[in-house]
Amino acid sequence: MTRPVVIDTDGGVDDAVALWWALTDPALDVVAITVVWGNVAVENATANVLRVVHAAGRDDVPVAIGASRPLPPAPDLRPATFIHGDDGLGNAAGPEAPTRAVEETAFSLLARLARERPGELTLVTLGPLTNVGVVVEDHSEFAREIDELVVMGGSARRAGNALPAGEANVAHDPVAAQRTVVAPWAKPPLLVGLDVSLTATLRPSEFALLAEHRNAAATFLDAPLRFYREFGSTFTAPDTPCHDLLAVLAAAVPEIVENAPVLPLAVDCGGDAAWGTTVVDFRAPYFAALDGSTQSSPEGFAPWRVALGVDVARFRSCARALFGD
Ligand code: BDR
Ligand code: CA
Repeated sequence: MTRPVVIDTDGGVDDAVALWWALTDPALDVVAITVVWGNVAVENATANVLRVVHAAGRDDVPVAIGASRPLPPAPDLRPATFIHGDDGLGNAAGPEAPTRAVEETAFSLLARLARERPGELTLVTLGPLTNVGVVVEDHSEFAREIDELVVMGGSARRAGNALPAGEANVAHDPVAAQRTVVAPWAKPPLLVGLDVSLTATLRPSEFALLAEHRNAAATFLDAPLRFYREFGSTFTAPDTPCHDLLAVLAAAVPEIVENAPVLPLAVDCGGDAAWGTTVVDFRAPYFAALDGSTQSSPEGFAPWRVALGVDVARFRSCARALFGD
């Protein structure tokens, strides 16, 4: 069955890979794409999304512009240009797409689609959670109307990338991330964090395949991914993560997530060393096993499915298929 999805993205290199998968996988019906600031400015990110949509032959998919800055207060982070390039596509963006974003804002579009199709849509977020943080605040029914939320962000069991403990998508806008965490979602959302996305890597052999330009996806993605590989591989060299692709695959091929217990989750919005960090209460199952106790987490936590294990072989075979294997 085709799964209708809305993708919220900040227009970077791994976003482009994830979008290409989503736009061409018959298992998914991309109803719309909303764009948020993050890897680059929102205008730049929008231009990149339109480039991907056009190159993938999917100009029928509406693209809407969202937030250009975080909800305050937010850490002042170093721009991600050293990973995604000045243009967000590894300084290889190429000509602009002939298409434009729709007039409707990302906030209005998200709220309207959820209202029109209650209980149907999966929302996959690949960037800072500003757009979602605004919509859950302004439209109290929104979270209940979304069938499932999948978030690439946070880091359940290891440190961060944008900050010592903070993963970029959460650290860019901790207030929006925490609003998203505690919104009244119909079912526990899925967190695909840095600790699992760093295990799902592309090896040199996947890059060799990509360089053969066997199809349009490989031809478009090769140069951006080669740039991204330089710094994107910092924690995993010689292999390279592709965080956002894993999140889209979690929606397209749900069994790729092998282990995702429901655990209490919160975001540190405090302004100190752990600012922008996801905190998972791993104590909960131990307490439950011990005496059936439901000893509650401190205020501000909400139940999420936290991905702790993914099928790395399946991830790589999907990436290889995308690159024309
Ligand atoms: C996330 O941060 C961004 O740089 C990537 O596109 C990805 O969404 C990884 O931490
Ligand atoms: Ca991203």
